[in-house]
Amino acid sequence: MTDRRNIAEPPAEVIRLHNHQAKLEGVIVIHSALLGLSLGGCRVWPYPTIDEAFADAVRLAEGMSYKNAMAALPFGGAKAVIRRPEGDYDKAALFEAFGEAVDRLGGRYITAQDVGTCVSDMEHVAQRTGHVVGRPADGRLAGGDPSRWTALGVVHAMQAASRRVLSSELEGRTVAVQGLGHVGSELCRRLVEAGARLIVADIDRPRAEALANELGAGIADTADIALMHVDVFAPCALGGAITRKVANAMRARLICGAANNQLAAPDIAHDLAARGITYVPDYVANAGGIVSAAAEYMREDRSVVAGRVAGIGPRVSIILEEAARSKLPPLVIADRIAELIMRTGQAERL
Ligand code: NAI
Repeated sequence: MTDRRNIAEPPAEVIRLHNHQAKLEGVIVIHSALLGLSLGGCRVWPYPTIDEAFADAVRLAEGMSYKNAMAALPFGGAKAVIRRPEGDYDKAALFEAFGEAVDRLGGRYITAQDVGTCVSDMEHVAQRTGHVVGRPADGRLAGGDPSRWTALGVVHAMQAASRRVLSSELEGRTVAVQGLGHVGSELCRRLVEAGARLIVADIDRPRAEALANELGAGIADTADIALMHVDVFAPCALGGAITRKVANAMRARLICGAANNQLAAPDIAHDLAARGITYVPDYVANAGGIVSAAAEYMREDRSVVAGRVAGIGPRVSIILEEAARSKLPPLVIADRIAELIMRTGQAERL
C-alpha cells in the first residue's frame, strides 16, 4: 500500500468560508506549513454538498504539500474550494468576500487559480488581500495565468518518461488527452509541435471538436478515452480518472498528465505497476503552474520560471530510475522523497 505518513497530522487548519450576501460557501484547508507559508489554488465547482467540497479540499491540500516540497519551493501546501452558487451570482462580490477571508489569515494561506477560476477572479481577490498570485504579469516579473507553465511541465515530464519507458521521443507516439481546458488544450498544442499524434475528449463536445479540427486530432467519447490503444494517457480533467477498473483495463504504457489526484485511491499505483504501466506521479508532472505562482509571490524575474519548470524532466527521470531499481511504484518513491524534504527542509538532491 502507498501509505502517506501524517506529515502534519492533516489537515493542520480548516477555515470555513461563509458569506450569505456574497453567496460564498466553501473551505480553506492548510495541510502543512513545514516548509513555509502555504500556497495552493482556489477551485470553484458545483459540489453537491459542503462535505464533498471539504473532502476534495483535504485531498487537494495534501497534494499541494507534496507538490511544493517536490518542486523545491519554500512553501507549505493548502487549497481553497468554493461551492459554485446556483443560478446567477456576482463574481466580483464572491471573490472579494473570499479575498477578505484569505486576508484574515495574515499570509498563512496564499491563493491562486485552479479549476473554475481565472486571472480576472484573482484580480477581484486582490481587491481585498495581497496574499494572491496568478495576477497579470508585471513587467519582467513572473505572473499571469499559470496553466501554460503547467502544460510545459507536463511536456517535460512526458518526454523524460517516454525516453525511459518507450525508449523514444514523443514524435510519432500517440497520446490520449482527457480534458481540454486551460492546461489540456495548451498541452495538446505542444504535443503536436513535438510530433505526437493525439486523441482527445472533453465533456464539452464542441470544445473537443474545435480543438480536434485545429490540430488534426481524433476524438473519443469521454467514457472511452482512458482505455484507448495509445502509448500515453494524459489525464487533464478532474481527479479520480484512474479507478481500479480503469487501471485494470487501460492499454497505454505510460500515464502522465496535469490533473490533480489522478488515482481514485493511492494504492492503485500498485495495480498499475503490476500491469507494467508507468504512472508519473501527478504532483511531480503538474508542478509548472505552482512554480510560476511561487516565483510571482517572491517577486522573481519571469526568466527563472522556465529553468525551474525544465527541472521537472530530470526529476521524473530520477524517480523512474529509482522505481525500476527498487521495484516499487514511482508514486511510492516520489512520496518518500517529498516527505524527506518536508521533514528536513532539504531539497538539494533534486
Ligand atoms: P479547466 O477547468 O480549464 O479544464 C478542465 C477541462 O476538463 C474542461 O474543459 C472540462 O470540460 C473537462 N472535463 C471535466 N470533466 C471531464 C471528464 N470527465 N472527461 C473529459 N473532460 C472533462 O481546468 P485546468 O486549469 O485546465 O486544470 C485541469 C486539471 O489540471 C485539474 O485537475 C487541475 O486541478 C489540474 N492542474 C491545473 C493547473 C493549472 O495551472 N491550471 C496546475 C496544476 C494542476
